[in-house]
Amino acid sequence: MAVSEFLSKRILITGASSGIGAGLAKAFAKRGASLSIVGRNETNLKKVARECKELGAKKILPIIADLAIIKDVERVVKETLASFEGLDILINNAGVALPTPVAETKVSEFDFIFAVNTRAPVILTKLVVPHLEQSKGNIINVSSVVTEVNLPAMNVYSMSKAALNKFTKTAALELAKKGIRVNAVNPASVKTNINRYLDENMARKIQKNVGMLHPLGRRAVSIDEVVNAVLFLASNDARMITGTCLMADRGFVLAGGRL
Ligand SMILES: NC(=O)c1ccc[n+]([C@@H]2O[C@H](COP(=O)([O-])OP(=O)(O)OC[C@H]3O[C@@H](n4cnc5c(N)ncnc54)[C@H](OP(=O)(O)O)[C@@H]3O)[C@@H](O)[C@H]2O)c1
Repeated sequence: MAVSEFLSKRILITGASSGIGAGLAKAFAKRGASLSIVGRNETNLKKVARECKELGAKKILPIIADLAIIKDVERVVKETLASFEGLDILINNAGVALPTPVAETKVSEFDFIFAVNTRAPVILTKLVVPHLEQSKGNIINVSSVVTEVNLPAMNVYSMSKAALNKFTKTAALELAKKGIRVNAVNPASVKTNINRYLDENMARKIQKNVGMLHPLGRRAVSIDEVVNAVLFLASNDARMITGTCLMADRGFVLAGGRL
């Protein structure tokens, strides 16, 4: 990958106020990109924005928005385009992972999980297509290994990510004629704030079995490893790759992912 690959590229990253999204923002900042970063937590988002500036981001636009609200989704695109006059890369990373045991799932939980994890990426994609067509840009969706394995009590989260995988593939096929690539990265367990959603029992099982669950290196996946997978798919080195859901999982799926 060329050192200057992302210099001056205009990149929109959702869920950049913590975890994988913050890692992505900093990695692209180091490479001199212009970044529009989105999250709900103003303190965290501003801290990431400051760090990105220090690391060398060409321009940084923090946008406080709740992606479960469609007007906010639209505002994110409007403000990004007004500031950058176009877009090269969209990274749909924001996600929520509430547990939803089958017999207890609430309609509000179902709607919330799908609104953030699935609907927001679909609508953001729709709104940026003309701009990515112009720049011959690409889209990366941050999905999950839960599309391939079955975790108790995580059914709605898993469905929302399975839908995101399907969207990745159908959008990739449809948008290929416009020169836009669409791919996904599917991480296994990464230490981030998202683990606050896990019930204690499941968290303990993951902690206890982390080596067995991730046969390659016998440890969990790091934020940097997920970031590297995204950097590759977003780069020109991946110009022949579209519609791929890349497992960034240290063999979690191969090992069956049973807790
Ligand atoms: N960590 C893992 O083990 C793992 C494994 C597989 C896939 N993933 C996926 O990786 C992605 C990033 O998660 P993470 O692990 O980095 O978790 P995280 O640290 O909890 O980060 C989630 C990000 O999404 C944002 N977000 C959540 N709901 C939002 C909403 N309604 N509107 C706007 N932003 C919202 C959060 O912003 P605020 O905090 O500011 O609201 C935060 O920046 C998610 O899509 C997740 O499903 C994670």
